[in-house]
Amino acid sequence: MRPLLIVLALSLAAAAAAASASASGARSVIRTVTDIPAAVSSGAADEADALFCDSWRLSVETANAGPWKFIPARCAAFVGDYIEGPRYASDSAVAAADSLAFASGALAAAEVGAARPAWVFDVDETLLSNAPYYAVNGWGSQEFNETSFDEWVDAAKAPALPSSLKLYNELQALGFHVILLTGRTEFQRNSTEANLLFAGYRSWEKLILRQPSDIGKTAVKYKSERRAAMEAEGFKILGNSGDQWSDLLGSPMATRSFKLPNPMYFIS
Ligand SMILES: *[C@@H]1O[C@H](CO)[C@@H](O)[C@H](O)[C@H]1NC(C)=O
Ligand SMILES: *[C@@H]1O[C@H](CO)[C@@H](O)[C@H](O)[C@H]1NC(C)=O
Repeated sequence: MRPLLIVLALSLAAAAAAASASASGARSVIRTVTDIPAAVSSGAADEADALFCDSWRLSVETANAGPWKFIPARCAAFVGDYIEGPRYASDSAVAAADSLAFASGALAAAEVGAARPAWVFDVDETLLSNAPYYAVNGWGSQEFNETSFDEWVDAAKAPALPSSLKLYNELQALGFHVILLTGRTEFQRNSTEANLLFAGYRSWEKLILRQPSDIGKTAVKYKSERRAAMEAEGFKILGNSGDQWSDLLGSPMATRSFKLPNPMYFIS
């Protein structure tokens, strides 16, 4: 009983404080960016960069930014801090929890009928994290180097995104067929399979990679075509998880799509 009483007392105190704040009259709750202190010291400049880069991150996550090639140079440290700090882990974990909440409800609601319930996962920055590669390559502020990235892929040492691995296992336990759909090429099948196993993933239904005939297609076109093929094979795609909008958009679309954060690069 005692902890409950303490919690109750604390919430009453908080409610009283809120009531007295509102009684003191309207507070200005919307600030303008000119409220930010002028850049008189390097501290203030850092603050302005942090504010700008957080807004830039929102604009790329919502796709307001449209296609982009590099992160702004002033945001490299911000992106590094974001990926390595608790925010990326927390954003990813909330996305995974939202996915699981939907997934259990969707199965219970028998939206599936006779079809096999499926969940589609992208690979890079969805199941696997290439953060160790980007950490030594400017966090996306440098031009993409296909040679060095392919070497990293061949090494097959990318770690799992922990919340994605947890979700992956939970979806399989619920009875979902997990299908992996990646922009990596068929030539990278072995290293991709080795890396997925290294990171702890097991028992995927299939791993779909770009075939020679897919080279040059946008990710939206390539991935939509493959989702159409899955539906033709009798899968009902209830969920789709990806770090790029091009993993998720296009017809047919999953019943629900889940966008994971990625402020390091953009794929159309
Ligand atoms: C790209 O990576 C390769 C392999 O690591 C390296 O030899 C090459 O110099 C890099 N190219 C550029 C433009 O940095
Ligand atoms: C992939 O692995 C299989 C079997 O382990 C092997 O036969 C094949 O040559 C490998 N392919 C490549 C491109 O390394």
